[in-house]
Amino acid sequence: MAKSADHVVIFDTTLRDGEQSPGCSMNLEEKLRVAEVLSHLNVDVIEAGFPAASNGDFEAVQAVAGSVKDSIICGLARASRRDIERAAEALKQAKSARIHTFISTSALHMKHKLQLEPEEVHALVVDSVTYARNFAEDVEWSPEDGSRTDHDFLCRCVESAIDAGASTINIPDTVGYAIPSEFADLISMLRNRVPNIDKAVLSVHCHNDLGLAVANSLAAISAGARQVECTINGIGERAGNAAMEEIVMALRTRKDAMVYETSVATRHITRASRLLAQVTGFSVQPNKAVVGANAFAHESGIHQDGMLKHSETYEIMTPESVGLTKSSLVLGKHSGRAALSAKLRELGIDLGANQLNDVFVRFKELADKKKEVFEEDLLALADVGVAAEDERVALVDLALRCGTEEDAQAAVTLRIDGVEQSKELTGTGPVDAVFKGISALVPGDYRLELFQVSAVTGGTDAQADVTVRLEENGRSVTGHAADTDTMVAAARAYITALNRLFTKRQRGVPPAFAAQG
Ligand code: KIV
Ligand code: ZN
Repeated sequence: MAKSADHVVIFDTTLRDGEQSPGCSMNLEEKLRVAEVLSHLNVDVIEAGFPAASNGDFEAVQAVAGSVKDSIICGLARASRRDIERAAEALKQAKSARIHTFISTSALHMKHKLQLEPEEVHALVVDSVTYARNFAEDVEWSPEDGSRTDHDFLCRCVESAIDAGASTINIPDTVGYAIPSEFADLISMLRNRVPNIDKAVLSVHCHNDLGLAVANSLAAISAGARQVECTINGIGERAGNAAMEEIVMALRTRKDAMVYETSVATRHITRASRLLAQVTGFSVQPNKAVVGANAFAHESGIHQDGMLKHSETYEIMTPESVGLTKSSLVLGKHSGRAALSAKLRELGIDLGANQLNDVFVRFKELADKKKEVFEEDLLALADVGVAAEDERVALVDLALRCGTEEDAQAAVTLRIDGVEQSKELTGTGPVDAVFKGISALVPGDYRLELFQVSAVTGGTDAQADVTVRLEENGRSVTGHAADTDTMVAAARAYITALNRLFTKRQRGVPPAFAAQG
């Protein structure tokens, strides 16, 4: 069906720009779960990765292209024939495929990063778009660092890219430098000066270094852009990208001032946000717009009084519109495997038989310990189940002694490649002792980058949700686990991260692949 002139295409780059940021890496299963939720959200385009960056990225784009059929699946490629061929190959199974090719156009980037003359860059623009059109009808072109590019050169490159066959022109504010009025003027300038601009959709891609990514994107829409590139929870390089949920809810809530529409099914926003936080370990700050834990909380007496009289006194959008429902008791200890599987599917999680068995065992253990099992608990359990896939190291036993009188002591038993090994170590606290014990059994060059604990639900019997990030020679991996015992969760999260490190080593994933932001 033809889209109206006021339709804004939502191009989600959570799996590419989002995943590219340090510590946000996801494994294949996790990417597929995120892709599935993006398809429930009904985003128009999913940028699934950068196929030339690594085999892992290639496989992820290929898998998303094979499984998601309702959105356009896009792969990123530099202005090189090999990159474009890799993207085309990875996208083969897509029902609708897009190749997104880019090259830097600012004087700064051309001179210092590419070490190319503007004429050489211009020739690569034409060559890359022309070459990409051999593989896909739908080609997007981006001038990296577009917001800091000389206007005459930008207009020339955009015109040539459209002549060569690009049907979307995306203007990135790569370093988050633009301010809304200026960025809107840039879009107007392109619309006024590029003669063939009506043959392409103008898009924007804003980074959040000054906290202006969403404001810049909305300003660009008002000036005529009809595609925005964004990510769930605003994850992405450095300070991140424009947050999809904020753009979509701003357009929906302020329709009176911005007469544009998107296809996003907003009731899936909360689930998407929670899933992403869970798989990346990047938790959402409580006061984050739209998806923060406090976004719909009313604490002060005056506000609560107003809310009781009329919800619109302090609520500009309803919690239901973003899929927020009160935590509800979902399953009890007598629930069976089929009920668990059905509930997980309702939450957007489709597990294979082995993973379901694993989650079911953990569910029974949890239901025995905890009186009430909530949706959040199930999501946390499912994540552990999924993470347990390629285990070389597993936790067998953990015993701890700690308190005010002596140093904490941990006795850790692990199964490493099928062989049980134990170690007892002391530390400045229980976490330190547990991590030292594991590291002594699994030595390596890795170091702890992040250790984060939060409670999955309320109450003293809540599961602790632990995220651990390890770094080794520029490779970052995140492990995530939940358990009613914080130390067990910490040990499991650490071990999950270690298993991922082994997988990365084995696959030869290059450390911190120097892709673009
Ligand atoms: O930030 C950027 O410039 C990018 C491009 C690859 C679009 O991510
Ligand atoms: Zn970017």
